[in-house]
Amino acid sequence: MEQPFDVFGYAHSHFSEIAWMGQNTNHLYPKAPIRAAIREAMKEARYEEYPMPAGLEELKSLLLEDFGLPNQKVGMTSGGTEALYMLTRALLNPGDEVVASDPSYMIIHKFIELSGAHTVNNEIYSEPYRLTPERVQASITPKTRMILLIDPLNPLGSGYPESDVKAIAEIAHDHKLLLLNDVTYRDFSDAHTLAARFAPEQTMTVWSLSKNCGLAGLRIGGVLAPPELFDRIWKYNTNDLGINVLAQWAGLAAMKVKKDVFPRIKARTRSNQRKIKRMVAGVSGTFLPVYPSQGNMFGIDIAGTGIDPVRLQRELLEGHNVFLRSGTYLSPKFGSRFIRVSFSNSPADVDRFITAFPAAVEKLRSV
Ligand SMILES: Cc1ncc(COP(=O)(O)O)c(C=O)c1O
Repeated sequence: MEQPFDVFGYAHSHFSEIAWMGQNTNHLYPKAPIRAAIREAMKEARYEEYPMPAGLEELKSLLLEDFGLPNQKVGMTSGGTEALYMLTRALLNPGDEVVASDPSYMIIHKFIELSGAHTVNNEIYSEPYRLTPERVQASITPKTRMILLIDPLNPLGSGYPESDVKAIAEIAHDHKLLLLNDVTYRDFSDAHTLAARFAPEQTMTVWSLSKNCGLAGLRIGGVLAPPELFDRIWKYNTNDLGINVLAQWAGLAAMKVKKDVFPRIKARTRSNQRKIKRMVAGVSGTFLPVYPSQGNMFGIDIAGTGIDPVRLQRELLEGHNVFLRSGTYLSPKFGSRFIRVSFSNSPADVDRFITAFPAAVEKLRSV
C-alpha cells in the first residue's frame, strides 16, 4: 500500500531550504535578545536544575501587565496547547456542550471530546466568517457549559469587533457559562478586545508566545484566569516541576522588547498579506475569504480550481519548498475548499510563495 505523504517529515528534513508558512510561526522577531538569553542560561547550566515550579516571577508580571489583568492569576504551560488540555479536563464533564465553530483550531475540539463533552459547531465559512452573538445565543441549550471564542481566528484570520466580544461575554455571564478566549494571535490584530474585560469571573484567556514572539519550538504559553477558576484548572497541571527553563528565559527576553519591536513586525505582516492578495487576484478560481487578516495567517479558497488542497500542499512543498497547510485539518466541513498560509515571514519567503502558488495551481489544474 502507498504510504501517505509525511509533510512534516519532508519539511523538517529540508529545514533550512523551506519557506515556513504552514504553522503560523513567526520568523520576524529579532533573534539577538532571544539568543543572548538562551546563551546566558546555557552558560550558567540552568538546564541542570529544575526551574522555579511556578515560573519566573518577572515574566509572569510582564504578562499580567501586557494583558492589563492584574487581578488574575497566570499559569505557564508547555505552549498554550497544554493549558487548553488542562482546562478542558478540569472543567468539562461527559454530556456537556461547548459552542464552537467550523472552521476552527480543531485540536481544542479534540480535547473537548476527550473530556466526554461535545462541540456544537456553527458553520462560519461565509460572511462574516466568524461567530456572531446571535448564533452563539441560538446554540445554547440546557447542556451548554462553555463558549469557545478564538480571536483572531485560526485559520481564517477573522477578528471580533469589540461590540461582539462584549455581547458574547454578556451571554456567557447571563447563562453562567465558561468562556474560553484563545488569544494566541491577538498581537497581530488592529484593535483586540479581551473578553475578560466584560466577563472577568468566567473567562479563561489562553495565551502563547509561539506566534507573537516567535518561540514555537520552545513551547511556552499558558492561561490567565480569576483566582478561583484558576485554582480549579491548575489542579490538573501536569508540569508540577515547571516548564522548560530555556523557554522561560527566552520568553522573558522576548517580552521585554515586545512593545518596541511589534509595530514593525505587524507592518511587515500587513505588507506581506497585501502582496499575497494581489497575487491571488490574478489566479482564477481562488479568493481570500477574509481580508485583511487580523492574525498572521489566512485561508485562500481554491474550490473554483477543482484542486484538492492536500495535493496543492504537497506540490508546493516538494516542487517549491513552500510549506503551508491544507484546510482539511482545520475544518471537517469546508477543509477541502481552502489552504491556509501564514505570512510573518521574510520578503524572500513571501516572494517564493507568490511565484510558486500560481505555478502549482496551473500545473495541478491541467492534470
Ligand atoms: C488558536 C490556537 N491556539 C493555540 C495554539 C497552540 O499554540 P502553542 O501550543 O504553540 O502555544 C495554536 C497553534 O497554532 C492556535 O492556532
